[in-house]
Order: sequence, then structure tokens, then C-alpha cells
Amino acid sequence: MAAEKWVYMVTAQTSPNIAVINYWGKRDEVRILPVNDSISVTLDPDHLCTVTTVAVSPAFDSDRMWLNGKEISLSGIRYQNCLREIQGRAGEVKDKERGIKIEKKDWEKLHLHIASYNNFPTAAGLASSAAGFACLVFSLAKLMNVDEDASHLSAIARQGSGSACRSLFGGFVKWRMGSKEDGSDSVAVQLADEKHWNDLVIIIAVVSSRQKETSSTSGMRKSVETSSLLQHRAKEVVPKRILQMEEAIKNRDFASFTQLSCADSNQYHAVCLDTSPPIFYMNDNSHMIISLVEKWNLSEGAPQVAYTFDAGPNAVLIARNRKVAVQLLQGLLYYFPPKSDTDMKSYVVGDMSILKEAGLDGENSVENLQPPPEIKDSIGSQDQKGEVNYFICTKPGRGPVLLPDQTQALLDPETGLPK
Ligand code: DP6
Repeated sequence: MAAEKWVYMVTAQTSPNIAVINYWGKRDEVRILPVNDSISVTLDPDHLCTVTTVAVSPAFDSDRMWLNGKEISLSGIRYQNCLREIQGRAGEVKDKERGIKIEKKDWEKLHLHIASYNNFPTAAGLASSAAGFACLVFSLAKLMNVDEDASHLSAIARQGSGSACRSLFGGFVKWRMGSKEDGSDSVAVQLADEKHWNDLVIIIAVVSSRQKETSSTSGMRKSVETSSLLQHRAKEVVPKRILQMEEAIKNRDFASFTQLSCADSNQYHAVCLDTSPPIFYMNDNSHMIISLVEKWNLSEGAPQVAYTFDAGPNAVLIARNRKVAVQLLQGLLYYFPPKSDTDMKSYVVGDMSILKEAGLDGENSVENLQPPPEIKDSIGSQDQKGEVNYFICTKPGRGPVLLPDQTQALLDPETGLPK
């Protein structure tokens, strides 16, 4: 190791993933091993992502982390497990130009600085910990020259947050529960990349929630302890659904995809109700969205939109193609209009081009908005309007990437402190 006070760092970007067959329940709380397989879709990092910069320097005197600009503690068991696992696999790093050489044995003496930033509000209740731990593990693996493939890295990210293992890949991803006690076979694998089914459009309705939600960690612990439906689901229902969902994704069979995704979301929330005391993640607005989608799908004779809800009231809606997504957005804006002082550009975010296609980018105001006939005929122009904070338009996206452009780094290359 050279004596000078260099800072060596890398920056990576990772997206959250949304489950279409849900993980709910652990058989091992420490290693984070699930009671069933799960399947998810990774979202497009252009609209939702976590960026993490990890740095090492002989000048650092302790491990430190900043999340969204605020310093947080790294002493939690989940961070410690991820750091230990990555450190145990660290390789040699050489940067001839800068005269940096880190040998394997040096890593245990060196300290890390980590800065992570979500481009979506953590408070929105979107799975920020999944993207966060995936990005942490991916960037550390690059920094430390860890020679492991994405599946092996997913088993490390899993120990930060179960669903994080699925964010090590883009597109459609399965988390195999595995059967080994040490968890080494509880890994994520990619079923299909993000280009495989690129007709799909995802609209997330970020729904306001008045009550403080139960975290997924404590919620699923209670469900494992008290819900007999959870045991039945894990043993009898999910294994069949996993096989069917894999087929549906492979064949781009939207009807089966929708049936499975909606049924699994509803059963997962039924497990929450079957928990003692019961857990309520969805609220009236979530229920209104389900009813809108169900009625529309029924009236069309073939599914147009799939839904899934995670540990909160937000709806994740997957439209079969862009045309359907435009109609869906028009319908959603009619039943969930923005408040009079809310600008459309802050009410519909992400892929804004869809707003234009819906005729809502210019002078057209929401007051004049009518639901598209396809939706109006099946649902009616009901008077009761719901409340949504905002919508995010996105699509299936790629897995983790390095951001080589130094200007995107979150830490100062001289000091290793947040910029
Ligand atoms: C409902 O991965 O957040 O989103 O492993 O305790 O960190 P921990 O839980 P977490 O649970 C996610 C639950 C879910 C379903 C899913 O993503 O599969």
C-alpha cells in the first residue's frame, strides 16, 4: 500500500424491483432465507434508481455511510453481514496510473466511506431497501475486485434485505428459496432480460397513507408466527404459481401473467389479514384501483392491466402495451385527479412522454378530462374521486451498472466526503 492519502472509489446504479409472485415469510431470520420462491420485475433506472458511491482510503479512520445526504449508522447486523461477506471475497486492486496497490490482506485494515441516494422519495413506500442493498453489494464488489457472478452477489445482498437479491438482475427475476441451511443456494437468477417483453408499461400510483405502516420485516415475522394461510400458501400455492409464472413470462402470455400476479397480490394481502393482530397495507384508494382494473379487464373480455401491491397502499399497475397504458393513465387521472394547485408535471413523473400521448402535456387541463370510453363504459363516470399523491410511469429495466463518469459520484474524489 502506498503511503500517500489517495481515495479510490467507484459509483454504481441499481433499480428497485416489484414482486409479481411475492416473498412473505422467512425460515431463517438472520441469513434471510424465505419460505417460498418469488418472481419480480426490475424497474427502469431512468425513472427510479439508487446511486451508490463506495470509497476506500488509508486516510479514513472509520467506516461511514450517508443515505440521501444524512449520516446513518453501519452497525446494524444487516450492513455488517453484507460488509463481512464482501470483504471475505475481496481481491487485489492495482491502479498503476495513480500508484495505488491494495493487496487482499490490506482490506481488513482499510475503512470505507459509502454514500447512497434514491432518486425517488423513500417516504413513498417504494422498495428502496431492495435497490439500496443491491447497489451497496454491487458497488463494493467492484471496488474490492470481487470475482463472483451476479447470482453469488445476490446471496450477499439477500442478507441486507431479502428482496434486494432480485435487484442484482434486470428484467424478470426469480429468487430461488434454496434448501441449504447456510443459504448458499438461496440466490436470484434472471428469467428474461428487460428487452424480452418490452411492450409492458408500468404505472405506479403512490397512494397517501395516514397510518404508520408495519415494516415488511416485522410484518412477515408476525405472519410466520400466526398465519396458517401463510403455511398453506408457501407449501401448496406458490410452487405451482412459480412454474406458471415462468411459463407466462417466457411466452409473453399477458392473460396468465395478469391472473397470477393479481391472485398472488390478493393472497399475500389475505395472509396479512390472517395475521394476528391483522396487518392492513391497502386502504380505500388501493381498493378503488383494484376495482377499476378488475371491472375494466372483465369488460374487455381479456386482461389489459395487471396489479400488484407490496407492503403499503401503492398500486403497481402493469399495462399490456402503450395504447392500454395511455387509456389507463387517462382513466386514473379522471378517478384520481390532482388537487387544483398541483401541476401535471409533478403529478405524473417518470416517462413523461406518455402524458403527451394522453393529450395532457399542454393546455389540456384535467378538469376537461373524460375517462376513455373503454373505461367509462365498464366503470361509469362515478362521482366519488380518490386520492393519489402522484403517478410514476416506467417500464421493465436493466440490472446494476457502473457509472464511470466521475461527475456522478456522490463522494468528493479528494476528501472522500459527501459532495
Ligand atoms: C411485500 O425484502 O423488504 O415487498 O427481507 O425483511 O428486508 P426483509 O423484507 P423485504 O420484503 C419484501 C416483501 C414484499 C414482497 C416482495 O418483494 O417479494
